Amino acid sequence: MGEVVAIINQKGGCGKTTTAVNLSTALALLDKKVLVVDLDPQGNATTGFGVQKSDLERTVYTVLSRQATMREAVTPTMVEGLFLVPSNISLSGAEVELSREIGFHSILEEALKEVKDIFDYILIDVPPSLGILTLNALVAADSVIIPIQAEYYALEGMADLLKTINLVQERLQSPAPIKGILMTLYDSRTRLGRDVHHEVKKFFGEEEYIFKTTIPRNVRLAEAPSYGKPCILYDQESTGTIAYIKLAQEMVKLED
Ligand SMILES: Nc1ncnc2c1ncn2[C@@H]1O[C@H](COP(=O)(O)OP(=O)(O)OP(=O)(O)O)[C@@H](O)[C@H]1O
Ligand SMILES: [Mg+2]
Repeated sequence: MGEVVAIINQKGGCGKTTTAVNLSTALALLDKKVLVVDLDPQGNATTGFGVQKSDLERTVYTVLSRQATMREAVTPTMVEGLFLVPSNISLSGAEVELSREIGFHSILEEALKEVKDIFDYILIDVPPSLGILTLNALVAADSVIIPIQAEYYALEGMADLLKTINLVQERLQSPAPIKGILMTLYDSRTRLGRDVHHEVKKFFGEEEYIFKTTIPRNVRLAEAPSYGKPCILYDQESTGTIAYIKLAQEMVKLED
C-alpha cells in the first residue's frame, strides 16, 4: 500500500511545488514507484514536468468532478517509474462545486483508493490556501511534509496550519501526522538562514521531526521548470539536485 504524502503550507512560494517535482523524481531514481498529484489550479507541477497545461483531456479536476477515474488520469512523465495527475486552471472552479456535495472533504481520498496499491509514494502538491482542496489533501494524506522558507515571518500562519491539521485529525478521524518539516531556500552561511533555522527548531521542539537535509537556495532549481524538467534531470551536479536526492534518501530511511 502506497503512502500518500501532502506537501503543504498555505504560505505562497515556500517551495512546495519545487519539492513535489524534485523529491518525487529523486524517489523514482531510488527505484520507488511514485505518483505526483498536482492539486493546484496554477498547475506549476504539471509545467515542471514539461506537460502542456492547455488541452489536457484528463486532470485532477476531471477526477474530482467524477468525469474520469484516477487511474484514467494518471499520465507517465519523462522519468521512469514516475507518474503525474496533471492540473490546470479548470480546477479553480472546483472548490465551489465540490462544496455542494455531501462528503466533499473526502473526494480525493476516495479517488486515490484505486491507485494506492500501485505506487510506493503518492505526493500531493497542495495550493497555497486552507480551502477545500487543501482539506481534501489532508483527508487523503497519510502524512504531511511542511516546507518552510528560511526568511523572517517563516512561522507566520504556522499555528493556523497546525490547527487545520489537528482539526482534520479530530473531526474527520483521518490522521495525517507530520512526516517532517523541511527548510527550503536555506543559506546556512547567512545569519538570517541560521536564525530562522533556530527559530523553527525552537517552535517545533522535540514534538515534530525536522528533516536533517535542508534545501539550499539554488538558481538551478528555479531555472529547471522553464525547461520543463525536474532539476535532477536539468543539472545533476547542482546543489539543488544533490539536496533533493539526499532528502529522498532520508525519507526512505525513515520507513525502515
Ligand atoms: N531552493 C530554491 N532555490 C531557488 N529557487 C527556488 C527554490 N525553491 C523554490 N524556488 C523558486 O521559488 C519560487 C516558488 O517556489 P515554488 O513554486 O516551489 O513554491 P510553492 O510553495 O509551490 O508556491 P505556491 O504557494 O505559489 O504554490 C519558484 O519560482 C521556484 O522556482
Ligand atoms: Mg506550488
